[in-house]
Amino acid sequence: MIAKIDHIGIAVNDIEEAVKLYTEVLGLEVEGIETVEEQKARIAMIPVGESRIELLESTDPEGAIAKHIEKRGEGMHHLALRTDDIEGMLRDLKEKGIQLIDEEPRTGAEGSRIAFLHPRGTKILLELVEH
Ligand code: CO
Repeated sequence: MIAKIDHIGIAVNDIEEAVKLYTEVLGLEVEGIETVEEQKARIAMIPVGESRIELLESTDPEGAIAKHIEKRGEGMHHLALRTDDIEGMLRDLKEKGIQLIDEEPRTGAEGSRIAFLHPRGTKILLELVEH
């Protein structure tokens, strides 16, 4: 079951500069910046009410974030939905013929378990997150 929008992922070239915008200009607070090897990205989580903004800066020119920015420029990268049963959801979506990028969950920010669905099936890049 999907509980809520966990976060919206935004790809940026310079995470410090982007964090400044969200904190100094918009008055939000950053939970912290961490490097997530499996995503080849530095990630900043910024709570906004019930949800969060996730800023992603690439740590590898061959990574998904770098490639996204190369193709489409900085900006919205993915929408993340929170679930309490990521394996169950992946099984169910696969059965329904939805194309998955990750067949098995991998590690996301804050030790969460995440999996991406292919935008071909879902119109935008969707991430499932289990905390
Ligand atoms: Co995300």
